[in-house]
Amino acid sequence: MAMVVAIVVSFALLSLTIYFHSSPSDSPSFSSFSFTPSCPPGFVAFGNSLTDTGNKLHLVPSLTASGNPPYGRTFFQRPTGRFCDGRLVVDFLAESFGYPFLYPYFNNSGADFRHGANFAIAGSTANLEVVSPLTLPVQVDEFILLKEQALLTENLSQSATANSQLPKRSFFKEALYIVGEIGENDLRNAILILNLSIPQVESTIVPQAVAAIIQSAKRLYAEGAKNFLFVGILAQGCSAYTVTLFSTHSPDELDSLGCLKSFNSLVQVFNSQLQSAVEELKQQIPGAAIVFADYYSASMAIFSNPSKYNFSTRLKLHACCGIGGKYNFDPDRRCGLAAVNVCSDPSIYINWDGIHFTEAFYRTIAKFFLSGQFLDPPINLINSCSLLPI
Ligand SMILES: *[C@@H]1O[C@H](CO)[C@@H](O)[C@H](O)[C@H]1NC(C)=O
Ligand SMILES: *[C@@H]1O[C@H](CO)[C@@H](O)[C@H](O)[C@H]1NC(C)=O
Ligand SMILES: *[C@@H]1O[C@H](CO)[C@@H](O)[C@H](O)[C@H]1NC(C)=O
Ligand SMILES: *[C@@H]1O[C@H](CO)[C@@H](O)[C@H](O)[C@H]1NC(C)=O
Repeated sequence: MAMVVAIVVSFALLSLTIYFHSSPSDSPSFSSFSFTPSCPPGFVAFGNSLTDTGNKLHLVPSLTASGNPPYGRTFFQRPTGRFCDGRLVVDFLAESFGYPFLYPYFNNSGADFRHGANFAIAGSTANLEVVSPLTLPVQVDEFILLKEQALLTENLSQSATANSQLPKRSFFKEALYIVGEIGENDLRNAILILNLSIPQVESTIVPQAVAAIIQSAKRLYAEGAKNFLFVGILAQGCSAYTVTLFSTHSPDELDSLGCLKSFNSLVQVFNSQLQSAVEELKQQIPGAAIVFADYYSASMAIFSNPSKYNFSTRLKLHACCGIGGKYNFDPDRRCGLAAVNVCSDPSIYINWDGIHFTEAFYRTIAKFFLSGQFLDPPINLINSCSLLPI
């Protein structure tokens, strides 16, 4: 608990400016929805540690394990704040378009936001504020600050625009807004910190988190956003963290893969509510192009057939970086601490540090999404945008 209090205190000290914006009117539109494939000039990302490219490390370095080796060892050869041995899904998306990796918004030293910005913060929730107050609505507040700063700069003079590292006015309606995954920490904190049962989480926390995501999307639309990628929650019931901490280790709690059934079905309840809400949203924000990414099924495709994607079947639930326990994960001796081991070949592991995943896993997921697999509608950006191979 001391740790939790410390996090809340340090976030409170950041004194973020909260902006209140009126949402667009929700009058239903009966115009038929059509998705027009377009190739975005960049990305604006919102999410949690699966998407954070350095925000939490910049905001609270002392509480961020991903600032220590061996984080980053596979690709960056140094810790960048990513909770991974290398690149994340959002990095592979940027790379495939030939854009720089998305700069974390909170660390503006040397940042170039012309192809977008990353507002994702490790530990973020959609709505629930028991660990961190940096929820999705706060990430959207920060996005609105960036947009106002960019438009003001553009208004000042041509010369200011020429040297600016900020997005152009046209960027804001053409960019792809990636919302998620987000909501996983709401579920986890409700169980671990609020001690709610899974049925209680389903009836209270899930609808609140989904509503917060939809409300955030409406605020982005009111700011001119047109292209949205909503990302569901992955099969976190298959992570070393979940099977270690949430299970009583009775065999009937686990499915044939060894994943925790109750947590995975909670994730599926969340995802199906989110997907239904996104369908309704299509009627409420006319002219928007909306894609839903089924991260759960994409991750399950890998967990259920690891060798097809060159992962070890035997080690599919094991953490590459960790020590002890049945799955090389001990919550008291986590990756990033001294004397915690790291595997020699992270590319055969799905799981990196118990709770987060490897670059090899994220690359496979990015390939799925870019080729339209597990997307609704199944838009193939590789073909329509002539993307670079990843
Ligand atoms: C902030 O960004 C700069 C430039 O990308 C980088 O060198 C630095 O390590 C980052 N700081 C933190 C705390 O992540
Ligand atoms: C920029 O200029 C436009 C047109 O004059 C104006 O409507 C808008 O409010 C200005 N934006 C900012 C942020 O100053
Ligand atoms: C959590 O909830 C369970 C079931 O309602 C109860 O038995 C247990 O004492 C609670 N634990 C804590 C730490 O509140
Ligand atoms: C698996 O590894 C083989 C040999 O290195 C390679 O040819 C193949 O493309 C890989 N498959 C995937 C799905 O990455």
